[in-house]
Amino acid sequence: MSGFYVGKLPRRDRWSAAVAAGPDDGESQLTKRALITGITGQDGSYLAEHLLAEGYEVWGLVRGQANPRVRRVREILGDVRLVRGDLLDQGSLISAVERVQPDEVYNLAAISYVPMSWQQAELTGEVTGLGVLRVLEAIRVCSGISASRSPGRGQIRFYQASSSEMFGKVRESPQSEQTPFHPRSPYGVAKAYGHHLTQNYRESYGMFAVSGILFNHESPRRGAEFVSRKVSLGVAKIKLGYEKQVRLGNLGASRDWGFAGDYVRAMHLMLGRDEPTDYVVGTGVTHSVGELVELAFDVVGLDWRDHVVTDAAFIRPAEVDQLCANPAKAASELGWETHVGFEELVAMMVEADQKLLSESGGHAEDSFGPDAW
Ligand code: NAP
Ligand code: GDD
Repeated sequence: MSGFYVGKLPRRDRWSAAVAAGPDDGESQLTKRALITGITGQDGSYLAEHLLAEGYEVWGLVRGQANPRVRRVREILGDVRLVRGDLLDQGSLISAVERVQPDEVYNLAAISYVPMSWQQAELTGEVTGLGVLRVLEAIRVCSGISASRSPGRGQIRFYQASSSEMFGKVRESPQSEQTPFHPRSPYGVAKAYGHHLTQNYRESYGMFAVSGILFNHESPRRGAEFVSRKVSLGVAKIKLGYEKQVRLGNLGASRDWGFAGDYVRAMHLMLGRDEPTDYVVGTGVTHSVGELVELAFDVVGLDWRDHVVTDAAFIRPAEVDQLCANPAKAASELGWETHVGFEELVAMMVEADQKLLSESGGHAEDSFGPDAW
């Protein structure tokens, strides 16, 4: 078998070829290879760490000529290899898949901040919605899959980052894989498109393509525009004397919040199953934004009522009032469970931000400030 031919084979076929060729030829090829879009984001970093620990060779897709977040990826994920590409650019995704020859592709890239999806609805549709199509097409084209040619044994496995935001104005509670969607934002609509498309490529082409419908998950690496991090940064700044107030929107909305590090394990488990199918991933417990705020101020011994100002600027055109997962399928089929509870998560975030601000003289590098939206 020529070297060129081995390079062009899907990874799982190369694995078989490596085994047939014997240990000397095969050793480096036995390592599984993952390509992660959204590597500079919260989930990308935790997933990369998890897959590296599992022995994977991890590649991250990065966009832009001088993306400042790439430096952070290199600092905290030194073993991750980078490849250029953009979810807006079909050719770049085909090139990336051709170059990396992955066993698994995790599509985490998106415009993920819900309020931005009203301000830039078309762009959100392009990236968060059509971007899924472009990644699936890159895999399909590179694998030589068509309506008349099904994927072989060595097909690339695909994970799509679907969202509980698709449930929107919820039809039932808790929400399971069977709950109908009623998205309340252009972001939720775009995610619903990506979700259905993933299912459609599975059914049309027999691709191993699955969606994880993930509920809100947070961490000290969460973007500063999301409420959990805005609160943890705000509390830390107030405690350290840099600020007096934090301005927030709807304190009455409820979310099912978990720790991001727990959720990336579910993504990996989904691609390890014999059959592709979608899973809801969440804790099954819901808390209001107000409860989150109270708990975060409690961590530093302050009373939230002295520092929180509600500001109509942060109220959304249409709100998702309450989300709560039914993770029974993920628990029974994947054996997935959370390790970090809500109170521990909030304390972890507040403590991390106090440390960050103390060490940086009050400067949080990736914070756009409390008026980001
Ligand atoms: P995040 O921190 O906002 O990261 C988003 C990533 O998408 C960044 O790496 C960003 O890269 C990348 N990206 C944006 N536009 C792109 C483009 N045109 N081409 C290539 N990359 C692009 O999001 P996250 O919290 O890690 O979430 C990961 C995924 O899960 C997202 O799809 C999100 O919608 C979904 N999700 C998240 C949650 C949650 O609670 N965190 C829940 C359900 C679903 P740049 O550095 O280049 O901007
Ligand atoms: N961001 C933000 N800022 N949210 C606020 C604020 C504020 O000042 N005040 C109140 N909230 C409320 C929002 O109205 C919403 O009900 C709730 O806090 C959570 O907001 P976010 O943390 O921005 O998250 P999200 O639920 O809109 O979206 C996140 O979770 C989705 C999964 O359900 C994102 O990570 C999405 O990408 C993800 O799909």
